[in-house]
Formats: sequence, C-alpha cells, structure tokens
Amino acid sequence: MYEPVRIAPSILSADFMDLGRDIALIEQAGAGFVHVDVMDGHFVPNLSMGVPLVKQLARATELPLDVHLMVSNPLDQIPWFAEAGADSLTVHAEVLYGDALAQAVEAIHAAGCKAAVSLKPKTPVEVLAPVIGQLDMVLIMSVEPGFSGQSYIEGSERRVAQAASMARAAGASPLIQVDGGIGVATAARVAAAGADVLVCGNAVFAADDPAAALAAVRAEAEAARTYALEAGEGAAAR
Ligand code: DX5
Ligand code: ZN
Repeated sequence: MYEPVRIAPSILSADFMDLGRDIALIEQAGAGFVHVDVMDGHFVPNLSMGVPLVKQLARATELPLDVHLMVSNPLDQIPWFAEAGADSLTVHAEVLYGDALAQAVEAIHAAGCKAAVSLKPKTPVEVLAPVIGQLDMVLIMSVEPGFSGQSYIEGSERRVAQAASMARAAGASPLIQVDGGIGVATAARVAAAGADVLVCGNAVFAADDPAAALAAVRAEAEAARTYALEAGEGAAAR
C-alpha cells in the first residue's frame, strides 16, 4: 500500500516567542504532524517542553501531535500526555526493560493514543521484536537524542531498512519514522530505505522560507521513494 511521505516538523527548532505563527506556517505548508520533543534533563542532557505546552498545542492545531518522550520514566508520563491531547506517544526502548516495553505500548493504547517506540542510534533494532506487531510507528533516531541541529549519523538509513523489513516479516505495518539531521541532503536516503515520516527541526525552522524548505524535503523524499518502489528494489518495495 502506498502512502506519501509525511513531514513532522520538530517545534524544538521553532520560535517559542512566535509559536502560533510557526504552527500556522507548517499547517499551511502541508505538514503531517507536529513533532513535540519532550526532554527531561536525565534521559537526555537537555530540558525542553512538557504537558502544559501539549495542552495548548492541542487547542491551537488540527494537526496530530506526535509526542517524542525522551524521559527516563515514560510509564508515569503516558497518562499525563495522553490527557493533554497527544495523538501519538513515542517511548524509548532504552528505559523500558523486559516486559516494561510491552506494558508501555499497552498503556499508550489504553490511554487512547497511537504507540511508537524509539531507538537511539546504538540500540539494536532487534529489541523491537517483542512489540513490533503492536506498534503504530517505529522511530529510528539518526542523531543522539538531546539537541536539534546535529548532523545525520551516516548509515542510519540501514537501520531504517532493517526496521522496515522486520515489520514486513512480522506482517506488521507500523509507520517508520526517522529523526535527526534530516534535510534535503539526507531525505532521499532514508525515504528510499523505507521511512514514511521524516522529522525535521532545523531543516524547516532555521530556513529563510520554512514552507519552501518543508516542500523541498518532501519532494526529495517522495522522488526517492517513488524511484525505489518502481525499481522494486531496497526496503521500500512493499
Ligand atoms: C533530537 C530530537 C529531534 C530534533 C530534530 O533529540 O528528537 O526531534 O529536534 O532536529 P534536527 O532536525 O535539527 O536534527
Ligand atoms: Zn524528536
């Protein structure tokens, strides 16, 4: 089944003093989601935004809120963010040992949200195996989480392809999302490898014309994906 590539601008790179304007701008530019990076100063060194902002965003936009929880205690946080209006919640596998990973996915669904699991760049993709059939989305980090504006870690597209093929083998079809250092120079590679959703922080919000930048990233990704599908090659062939 073919779905166009969606762009999820990360508001970590937006202008917080003019967030309403930036949200309207990405809505008009055809963003698929608003990506909200929640950082706790513990799982990652940085602190960013939390429940009160998600509440206000939910009132301000019709776009689905894609909340990326970079926190050490996601099981405690899930109900709060669900209640605040998150549409999807992404937890990190690195803090969910043993059965806790499946528990978190269940708790997200029970709270009425779509469930995603994220992997840091060095975490083996195999850790997804016990939950892949339950996931709405998989998030492959292509930088070490914590900051926007970092460079894409070369080879991350292989992890995207691995996640896509693991999902296919399991008969599952979660969206495959990639996050970190994605822009016109890297979009084609990850899209050809099977990425469905591209998170973009600086590539959109640090551009002179964010709407044009978003369109350019999407066009690159779309062209690469179409090519990979038509050629019937690579992990994008499904
Ligand atoms: C990194 C965050 C990303 C980041 C993306 O920890 O999860 O969403 O803000 O920013 P860019 O696209 O600038 O790498
Ligand atoms: Zn993120």
